Amino acid sequence: MNLRKTILATGVAFSALATASFAHAEPTAEVLHWWTSGGEAKAVAALKEDFEAHGGKWVDSPVAGGGGDAAMTVLRSRVLSGDAPAAVQLKGPAIQDWAEQGALADLNDVAEAEGWDKVIPPAIQSVMKYEGDYVAVPVNIHRVDWIWANPELLAKVGATEAPKTWDEFNALADKLKAAGITPVAHGGQPWQYATVFETVVLGLGGPEFYQQALVDLDEDALKSDTMKAVFDQMRKIRGYVDADFPGRDWNLATAMVMNGDAAMQIMGDWAKGEFLAAGKVPGKDFICSATPSEHGYLFNVDSFAMFNVSGDDKVEGQKLLAELIVGEKFQETFNLLKGSIPARLGVALDKFDDCAKKSEADLLAAQDAGGFLPSMAHGMALRGHLSGAIVDVVTAHFNSDMSSDEAVERLVEAVELAKD
Ligand code: GAL
Repeated sequence: MNLRKTILATGVAFSALATASFAHAEPTAEVLHWWTSGGEAKAVAALKEDFEAHGGKWVDSPVAGGGGDAAMTVLRSRVLSGDAPAAVQLKGPAIQDWAEQGALADLNDVAEAEGWDKVIPPAIQSVMKYEGDYVAVPVNIHRVDWIWANPELLAKVGATEAPKTWDEFNALADKLKAAGITPVAHGGQPWQYATVFETVVLGLGGPEFYQQALVDLDEDALKSDTMKAVFDQMRKIRGYVDADFPGRDWNLATAMVMNGDAAMQIMGDWAKGEFLAAGKVPGKDFICSATPSEHGYLFNVDSFAMFNVSGDDKVEGQKLLAELIVGEKFQETFNLLKGSIPARLGVALDKFDDCAKKSEADLLAAQDAGGFLPSMAHGMALRGHLSGAIVDVVTAHFNSDMSSDEAVERLVEAVELAKD
């Protein structure tokens, strides 16, 4: 009798279990991203841990290559072969591109349940939505226009801080060079030239010029004397990098500043993630300073878009991941590691360092001054074929002795062609 009871009870238990596992598929997400450097890997590991702690199964698909060009190539081929990853690191207008093609899943029910309209700043919401539907979630706000400097090397030529104008930048770099120190750590990849270029456009031209040239693609701005001055400055910077820059990854350039092999790097604050991952202390081992500009701030918001996939486990995985990403706790943990600041409103910066606090203060000041602008180099301002046209010219100029006049001519031509 007892035995029968037990068997019956066990049977009930088994069938209950079976029903439960049908109703609640294990949330699973294949995540395609390009966060493979030291700091980036630590940050993405925090996301994976959070996802797993909430019962998710994480399938990691990293594609090495800063800036994400290689990852985007992999994404295109995966979608073409009908095998889209569930969650993809995707940004800016590229989100709209994929949404237009009907490739993205909408996240409106999570958005509603979590009140995203109240916690995501409106300017970021518009990037995450397509025709009013949420199709992506923001992870952070990176700032692009930073100088990362080695204070010991600056001190060798009597400098106590990073330069505040481009003339000061050149004067300091000349002194460093004369003292046998590589002034600028740089990696020779198209997106890295573009990163430096856009900070010079912002600095020499001002926020309004940046908007006209790199967002509105205004022909007069593109062919202006100001743009020629930008290429002159790029030529100067070319003279401040070491001979081994071609092909170098951005994080190796950051390591040069860290190790005392070069004095400064112009790079977004993912570079801070590298310093922190190596145990370096801001203000002591390295200095963060904005590249010279009049209250400019070039923003780069990382986000994840959810591609159309089938299977309850995958759909559940996308929802769980999206919910966690926008969550307050995750936004703090992740951004402390990544070097960026939270994309969610109201996350206190108490635990963040002075560079992050400066980022937020400068962001607010830039918003007031009309200097809060999308990064062209990091896919926030233009669709890929348009930014690609600009980046090609910037790359060709940096790697040849092309004059500024010719660079400007080519820039206008390339943009016109790409617009057609
Ligand atoms: C940017 C991305 C950052 C950082 C960087 C270097 O485009 O937004 O998160 O990872 O590339 O890989």
